[in-house]
Order: sequence, then C-alpha cells, then structure tokens
Amino acid sequence: MTMQNPTMKAMVATAYGSPKVFQLQTVPMPRVKAGTLLIKVEVSSATRAETMMRTGKPYFGRLFTGLRKPKNAIPGTGFAGTVTAVGAGVNDFKPGDRVFGESATNFKTNAEYLSISQDAVVMHMPDALSFADAAPLSDGAITSINFLKEVGKIKAGQAVLINGASGSLGTSAVQLAKYYGAKVTAVCSTRNVGLVRSLGADEVIDYTKTDFSTHTAAYDLIFDTVGKTSYPQVKAALKPEGVYLSPVLSFPLLAWSLYTALFSAKKAVFAATGLRKPAELRTMFTHLLEIIAAGKHKTIIDRQFPLEKLAEAHTYIDAGHKKGNLIITHN
Ligand SMILES: NC(=O)c1ccc[n+]([C@@H]2O[C@H](COP(=O)([O-])OP(=O)(O)OC[C@H]3O[C@@H](n4cnc5c(N)ncnc54)[C@H](OP(=O)(O)O)[C@@H]3O)[C@@H](O)[C@H]2O)c1
Repeated sequence: MTMQNPTMKAMVATAYGSPKVFQLQTVPMPRVKAGTLLIKVEVSSATRAETMMRTGKPYFGRLFTGLRKPKNAIPGTGFAGTVTAVGAGVNDFKPGDRVFGESATNFKTNAEYLSISQDAVVMHMPDALSFADAAPLSDGAITSINFLKEVGKIKAGQAVLINGASGSLGTSAVQLAKYYGAKVTAVCSTRNVGLVRSLGADEVIDYTKTDFSTHTAAYDLIFDTVGKTSYPQVKAALKPEGVYLSPVLSFPLLAWSLYTALFSAKKAVFAATGLRKPAELRTMFTHLLEIIAAGKHKTIIDRQFPLEKLAEAHTYIDAGHKKGNLIITHN
C-alpha cells in the first residue's frame, strides 16, 4: 500500500499580474526537517509590499523575487499560528506553542501550513496578544522601528513628521514616535484625522488642505511612509541636520541618498527592512513586544478576508485607501 503525501490549501501565483493571478490550490504540505518548525497558520498578512511582489513592479525588485515569474509561488510574509511539529535539533519551540513572525524573503504564509527555520524570524507570542494583532506586526510596526529607531536614530524631544499616518506603517509610526518621546505631526486626509489623533499625534495635518512641505526648517525627521513626496520637495521643511526617510524604493531616492551621504548635512535615506539579518529583526521584535506590553502600541485592523479571498484583499490594497492593516484568516 502506498502512503499518500499530506496536502494543504494554499494561495498560489505562478505569474506576475493583477489579483487574478491568485488561485486556491491543494499543494504538498511542507515536510518537517531538522532545525525547522511546522506551523499551522491561523492569520497571515496582505500588505502593500506584497502587492508590489505580486505585480513584480518596480522591475528591479524582480532581482529578489524572480525575473520572469515569482520564485516562490505562495505569497505572504507575516504570520501567526500554532506549532504542530518540530524537527531534530529544535529545542526552543514545541508543538502547541503560539508563534508569530515574518517569512521575509521566503514568503509562503498565505497557506494552511508554514515551514520555517528556528533561526528565522519566529517569536513566541505573549498570551495577551491575539493572532489577528500579531500577524501584521512584521509590516508596519517592525518597518517603523527600523526606520525611526535604527536608521533615523530618533530622540526624545525631536519634531517628527509622519506622512501617510493612516496606513500600515503610518499607524504604527505615529504610536512608536510618541513612545520614543518625539513631538509628532501626522499627515493624513480628512476622513482619517480622528483615527490618527486617537493614536496620540500631537498635531494632525490634513493633506487635502495643507501642504506640510511649506513649513520651513520644522522637522528633525520626516518619515514619508507612503512615498508620496520626494526629497527635493520636502528638503526645506527639514531642520539643518534633518533626515528624510522613505521606505518606497525609487531611482531618484537612491540617487539622493548617495548625494546627501556625501555632500549634505540633511540626508535622504532608504532601507529595506526585510533584508536585515534575522537576528537583528528578532531583536526588533523583542523590543516591539516590550512596547506592546507597556500598552504603547496597538495593531490597527481595517478589514479581514478569508484565505480564499486573498485576491479581494489585494484589490482593496491596490485602491490605496487602506487604514492600518488587513488580515487574512485561515479557518
Ligand atoms: N522598505 C521597507 O522596509 C518597507 C517595508 C514594508 C513596506 N514598505 C513600503 O511602505 C509603503 C507603505 O506601506 P503601507 O502598507 O503603510 O501603505 P498603505 O497602508 O497601503 O497606505 C495607505 C494609506 O495611505 C494614505 N495616503 C494615500 N495618499 C496619501 C497622500 N498623498 N498623503 C498622505 N497619505 C496618503 C491613505 O489615506 P487616504 O485614503 O485617506 O488618502 C491610506 O490610509 C509601501 O510602498 C510598501 O511597499 C517598505
């Protein structure tokens, strides 16, 4: 008698393109290998960055995600779930543990099960944290810690402006900048002013009425979480040694980063959070868990979609008006 290999449901994309590329398929379940954990994913992510990986644009991103088609057919980076099995040599995790984290460059979290190395970005979940609140943390919260604390070296008392304050990165960045003791100006549209104020912003600028770049020498850090401005546009709004941070990669931004690194007291900076070493990302997660335990960060969830409706989640993100995070539920 031949044993059937176990299977699972997963969302699969075998080409770059619109949300229609996603198909729910039955695929082989990952095997438990030495040093890895098998996780039953309860909640996974659907993020703006994942929509860019779906389209394969900008094209230079394909150097990492696959030239002609996605290298990893199963999308998704953030996850939260329960360990169901561990391979030889895994001592810090056991079946039944609640875990969360980021499958940064391997993706595959939009599936029933995920296999991940114990040395990757996988963390124990505190009892007080729900799967829904944990799964999106790798996106907005960790990216904002990377930009504000690690790259921007934020200090208490600084004037910090967060553009795109109602998005995934923005809703975390406002809370984190407040936690670090900054005076926070948040930029969003009229309909999100209440949300952004509730996150603790000291001042809110409605971008449909006021252009913040007309404020001269006002900010130590400008974190444009949605990449809607350019360094030359907002340079005058930076203090003499101010830093412009943007997580949205473009050739002009890279050119300005290089130029300002060499020739200017004001700086423009891009960073790719997911490409940091797993140990560095785990340190950021530990720091974030302390902030959450202190009641200083909450996950803002706009909508949830079941796994089979991942295409609808991506269509919603593509429209550009997401508030905070989307979550993908797997039950
Ligand atoms: N480099 C990295 O390490 C890294 C890591 C993760 C993500 N990212 C990138 O970060 C970017 C932001 O992601 P996200 O998930 O935070 O975005 P998002 O949630 O999709 O952003 C949507 C929000 O942006 C607001 N918005 C739209 N136009 C705006 C404007 N002109 N000014 C101010 N706000 C505006 C919208 O509010 P309204 O509807 O009210 O306009 C909406 O609430 C993405 O490009 C992603 O790829 C980079």
